Amino acid sequence: MTIELQICFDEAVSDDEFVWFDEETQGMGDFEHTTVMLDEVVEGVIATAAQGGLVVDATLGGGGHTEAILERRPDLRVIGFDRDPRAIEAASQRLARFGDRFRALQTAFSDGGEVLDELTREPLAGLCADLGVSSPQIDDPSRGMSFRHSGPLDMRMDTTSGETALELIGRLDADELADIIYRYGEERRSRRIARTIKRAFDEDELATTADLRRAIVRAVGPARIGGVDPATRTFQGLRIAVNREIEELERLLLWATQRVAPGASFAILSFHSLEDRLVKELFRQGDVWRALTKKPRTASDDEVALNPRARSAKLRVGRRLPLPESEGEE
Ligand SMILES: C[S@@+](CC[C@H](N)C(=O)[O-])C[C@H]1O[C@@H](n2cnc3c(N)ncnc32)[C@H](O)[C@@H]1O
Repeated sequence: MTIELQICFDEAVSDDEFVWFDEETQGMGDFEHTTVMLDEVVEGVIATAAQGGLVVDATLGGGGHTEAILERRPDLRVIGFDRDPRAIEAASQRLARFGDRFRALQTAFSDGGEVLDELTREPLAGLCADLGVSSPQIDDPSRGMSFRHSGPLDMRMDTTSGETALELIGRLDADELADIIYRYGEERRSRRIARTIKRAFDEDELATTADLRRAIVRAVGPARIGGVDPATRTFQGLRIAVNREIEELERLLLWATQRVAPGASFAILSFHSLEDRLVKELFRQGDVWRALTKKPRTASDDEVALNPRARSAKLRVGRRLPLPESEGEE
């Protein structure tokens, strides 16, 4: 086995930020994702799930939430969606022991309503979604989602379709690019950054995540603000745009209302204020949903210490109305 160590050098990156990676183990290794707010999400779904019902996990990832649902409620079945073929493969292996109680389907969750319609008319006994990207997607340099490792400027969760980040940058003009970086990355220096990125693209100097970071640093300097790398917000904004993450969520929320059974719950973890706002609005529709979390729940300090990704997680749980007659009004 040849292990190739690469050094990703960037003129503006300080010594302790040089990233060494081993292509084989980082790119192809095990699918390891630490599940965020495991108990809170799982209990949010199963507490109200009807006996013998069908639950959908809209963001299967490594299968952490689904595994706990299947273990804690042996009467339930779960269908898991993910648009990433690698996640589908990894979760299918991990959850194979549950036999026909579990099924994984590669699809964007925006299409989940139609995909379900083709399989069953059964109302859902529960639904969960854990938005955003998984650790393997971030950590695999070939996915191009992170500036920590140099890789092609791709950023797609579904590597089989859609436009890559590089293609998106090529298609948009500097103003459109700035709008994306501002809106989804919440980056106030978006205009300057977008102009510099477009210049690098036009001069054929933009192919990798290291090139993108270099262009951003050229625009705004290498200083970290509040411990945040100058490229963080731009990378996030581009990733959200490439994967159409906000549009995806809007469509998920639409079919959730159609498919979740009266009395059953929808637990949703978000990591971006735009996402949380949409979820909050959904559960505000007092005649359709009852918010079981008036304020979003967040991860405990202990969990954040163990898994920094949990830091920005916000969990909202809503219960579909009307409640079953046996329960009456709460
Ligand atoms: C944070 S991970 C989920 C981790 C999972 N809950 C676990 O415990 O292992 C999010 C997953 O959702 C998937 N995903 C994100 N947006 C999606 C979408 N619009 N449609 C389908 N899958 C999506 C990503 O590919 C990723 O695998």
